[in-house]
Amino acid sequence: MVRNKFPVHTTLSSDAIKVLERYEKELGAKNLVLEKALMSLDSTRFKSKLDTKNIDRMVKRMSSGIIGLDDVLEGGIPEGFSVIVTGPPGTGKSTMSMQFLMEGVKNDEKCIFFSFEERLQQLVQHFVRFGWDIAKHMDDGYLEVFSMSMLSFEEINEIIETYKPQRVVFDSINVFSKSEDFRKSIAWRSLHRILKTRKITSLLITEKHHGLETKTFDDYDFLGDGIIFLDAMQVNEIDTTLTPVMAIQKMRATKVDPTPQPFRFTDNGIVKYRSVHLSSKALQDKMKGTRNTPDEFGDPFASGEIGY
Ligand SMILES: Nc1ncnc2c1ncn2[C@@H]1O[C@H](COP(=O)(O)OP(=O)(O)OP(=O)(O)O)[C@@H](O)[C@H]1O
Ligand SMILES: [Mg+2]
Repeated sequence: MVRNKFPVHTTLSSDAIKVLERYEKELGAKNLVLEKALMSLDSTRFKSKLDTKNIDRMVKRMSSGIIGLDDVLEGGIPEGFSVIVTGPPGTGKSTMSMQFLMEGVKNDEKCIFFSFEERLQQLVQHFVRFGWDIAKHMDDGYLEVFSMSMLSFEEINEIIETYKPQRVVFDSINVFSKSEDFRKSIAWRSLHRILKTRKITSLLITEKHHGLETKTFDDYDFLGDGIIFLDAMQVNEIDTTLTPVMAIQKMRATKVDPTPQPFRFTDNGIVKYRSVHLSSKALQDKMKGTRNTPDEFGDPFASGEIGY
């Protein structure tokens, strides 16, 4: 029998051996490449068969910590997702990301903020404006901040493996390499694997040289499970001041509306409108390049329509 002819498959499950033997019989020779491939498949496909009927379809969601954002994300960011937080300079990327960690800290989750370009003192000073006591959370052991980090990916991986956080932020990943190189790098792939295996929810900040009006994507946008684009736009034609907006351009396993949604900075961090109102309609029109009539203008924050 075939089994006698090619007997050395001791580490494979009997199901995998059947597949291997079938191919080997056809080839008339032992196939090491196939055997290796089957061994890695074995754990999921054969040994612990995927039970698609009983698989947990409920996605656990992590609150973003941003009022109004969870509502449009079916409750929050799916656990274990790596979400790109992107946008031009000064649009609130670091603030949104630290707020996401503050929500974790509130729930006794361990959090890490890797900052590659800002000093700790600067971060503490910036975030204390929103009432976030970074130093205290660090002392309490729920937050680690690696500022001006020169860490290698191996060191980052080791820190994550040791600290076992639930939430991690990388600010920003543009420092490593060109986006097209980063996505394919072993460094990212091994980090990504750790984040996924440990179900760590992460925000990866990336920098854009353009606003939402430019419909181009970089390679970072493809590596994330989601993309939140922060920008500032003129939302009506009377008031020329720019309003901060966020657009959820992608969130896997979630139904999303990619329309830019206004938000603002408050004393407690970022707050997003709960739902689409007048100004968002104006925004949508703006995105389509059409002009608004004066009737559509208005400040939804001041109008009382918004529950904040
Ligand atoms: N209380 C506030 N009200 C309005 N805007 C504020 C307030 N606090 C901070 N900002 C604005 O937030 C922006 C900085 O936020 P943040 O550092 O999160 O942005 P960023 O996108 O990370 O910037 P960068 O690209 O420089 O890293 C600044 O433009 C600042 O004007
Ligand atoms: Mg920043």
